[in-house]
Amino acid sequence: SAAEKGGYDYFMLKEIAEQPKAVADTLLGRIDGTGSLTLDEVRIAAGVLREVDKVVIVACGTAFHAGLIAKYAIEHWTRIPCEVELASEFRYRDPILDQQTLVIAISQSGETMDTLMALRHAREQGAHVLAICNTNGSTIPRESDAVLYTHAGPEVAVASTKAFLTQLVACYLVALYLGQVRGTQWADEIRAVVRDLASIAGAVERVLETMEPVRELARSLADKNTVLFLGRHVGYPVALEGALKLKELAYMHAEGFAAGELKHGPIALIEDDLPVVVVVPSPRGRSVLHDKIVSNIQEIRARGARTIVIAEEGDEAVVPYADHLIRIPVTPTLLQPLVATVPLQVFACELATARGNEVDQPRNLAKSVTVE
Ligand code: AGP
Repeated sequence: SAAEKGGYDYFMLKEIAEQPKAVADTLLGRIDGTGSLTLDEVRIAAGVLREVDKVVIVACGTAFHAGLIAKYAIEHWTRIPCEVELASEFRYRDPILDQQTLVIAISQSGETMDTLMALRHAREQGAHVLAICNTNGSTIPRESDAVLYTHAGPEVAVASTKAFLTQLVACYLVALYLGQVRGTQWADEIRAVVRDLASIAGAVERVLETMEPVRELARSLADKNTVLFLGRHVGYPVALEGALKLKELAYMHAEGFAAGELKHGPIALIEDDLPVVVVVPSPRGRSVLHDKIVSNIQEIRARGARTIVIAEEGDEAVVPYADHLIRIPVTPTLLQPLVATVPLQVFACELATARGNEVDQPRNLAKSVTVE
């Protein structure tokens, strides 16, 4: 009913708007002002976590994209090798798992059969399983050794939005916590990032306040057939997520690529007026990547692409090559997906509406996939 949608036309719009709160709720009670973390729910002994020599993340769809981003954070802050695998592929390749493997199963519903079967397989091999889940008491957390709940609140729209952002937050918390427990060389950076996380909900809110031009742009592209998405580093999974949202909602051909792969094939797809969304890494820090992606934008634009550039406030280098420029707040590199994903959700939702599609219940899809 209209009341359930809180005055919004669709649950998806309501859930997009709820993201600042969802992010803040997921952080609540878990970080403090001194930059340290308390994750009491993670009932895996510190001794066990110190012995972990490999992390394996299993998930499907949007949750898998959260896992891809988590890999960057986990490896950077803990120096533990981390693999990310589609849950549906995992157990069929006889993965190498033992007591020193920490498996993280990410699921909004907690009922996704592929993810459940993957975690059962991991536990049979003796691995420790931590669930990141949004649904209290669902099957995946019940069958795991421990659970870190995301506090997004119920997500009704089939296309995942606020659950994704909170999955990212939970992944960062786990990565930082592992770093804290193991006492890495990144202690100062970890404390700084914990402080940055405290202000991230405000950054998400600021993005939401500037979305009207994105909606206008989406409407203007309603009769296109294809949209491509490019990113690098943590922006690559953001590109994949932007493409998934567009497939699900707008039923358009949408693909995400690692920008560095362009010259290995995908650049052949570029033709006149093809919309290409580019997620630009911060010009600070890993500025080499920033410069490379600016060259990519020039290359595709020279071949006719219509460039839709998502870049940090103050990034002036992209301005000459952006047909459309979407600004996002300055964040630490690894946290950028929390703000960069939001315009892509709005973009897909508006395109779906413009094409007359059912936003909350896209064709052929179910909210949770309880069969293999
Ligand atoms: C996201 O928009 C999708 N509807 C889908 O990919 C979803 O993320 C996937 O099925 C996993 O669901 P889960 O998080 O409930 O396990």
